[in-house]
Amino acid sequence: MENIFSLIEEPPYIKMLETGKRYQELMNRYRCAIMEVETKLNVLNLEFSLHYDRNPFESIESRLKTPRSIIEKLKKKGIPFNEETLERSIEENLYDVAGLRVICAFQEDIYHLADLLVQQDDITLIRTKDYIKNPKPNGYRSLHLILEIPIFLKEGKTMMKVEVQFRTIAMDFWASVDHRLRYKKDLPNEAEILEKLRNCATVIAGLDEEMQQIRTMIEQSEEDGAV
Ligand code: GTP
Ligand code: MG
Repeated sequence: MENIFSLIEEPPYIKMLETGKRYQELMNRYRCAIMEVETKLNVLNLEFSLHYDRNPFESIESRLKTPRSIIEKLKKKGIPFNEETLERSIEENLYDVAGLRVICAFQEDIYHLADLLVQQDDITLIRTKDYIKNPKPNGYRSLHLILEIPIFLKEGKTMMKVEVQFRTIAMDFWASVDHRLRYKKDLPNEAEILEKLRNCATVIAGLDEEMQQIRTMIEQSEEDGAV
C-alpha cells in the first residue's frame, strides 16, 4: 500500500524562498560578502598594475545560487530542514551560495592572488580544493577557496561564507565547454567524448605551462636588460 505521507505534497520550498523576507535578507548578506571580496580583488589588481604594469586577473564573475539549486543541494546532502529552519540550514551547510570566479591569464597569478587574499586579517580560509595540482578525473582544473568574511550591517558584524574559484582563461574555456556538454545525456559514444575532453584538458594544461614559461622568460630578459 502506498505510504500516506508520499501523497502529501512537500511544502513548496522554492516558492517560499522566492517570496520570503528572511531569505531575501540572507541573500542580501551574501551579496554584501560578494561585494567585499570583489573590492579586495580590485584593490589588488590596481596595486599590481601600478607596481608591475600588469593585471593579475582578466575578469571576475559572481553569482548567487538560485532557490531551486539551493533546495536540490540540501536534499542531495541529506540535510534536514523545515520552514522554520530553512535559512539557518542554508547558512550553516552550504558554502557556495555566494560564488566568485576569477579568471587569470597566468597560473602563477592564481596562487599569488589567492595568497594575498587569504593573508588579509579579516579573511578566514575555511577550505581549499586545489584542482590545478590535483585535477578531477575528467580533467577539470581550478583552485577553489571557501572564505569567511565579515560584513557590517546596522545590527552589527556577521561572518559570511563565499566560494572563490580561480582559473586561467584556458581552464575557463575548457570548463564552459564541459558544462555545456554535461547536460547532453545518454550519448552512445559518451566514453569516447569524455576521453577526448580529458585529452583537451591535458593539452590546455600544457599550454598554460608554456605561456607561463614565456612570461617568465620575458620578465627575466627585462631584468637582465635593466642591469
Ligand atoms: P558541488 O556540489 O558541485 O558544489 O560540489 P562540491 O561542493 O564538492 O565542490 P567542488 O569544489 O567539487 O565543485 C564546485 C563547483 O566547481 C561546481 O559548482 C562547478 O562550478 C565547478 N566544477 C566542479 N567540477 C567541475 C567539472 O567537472 N566541470 C565543470 N565545468 N565545473 C566543475
Ligand atoms: Mg557548487
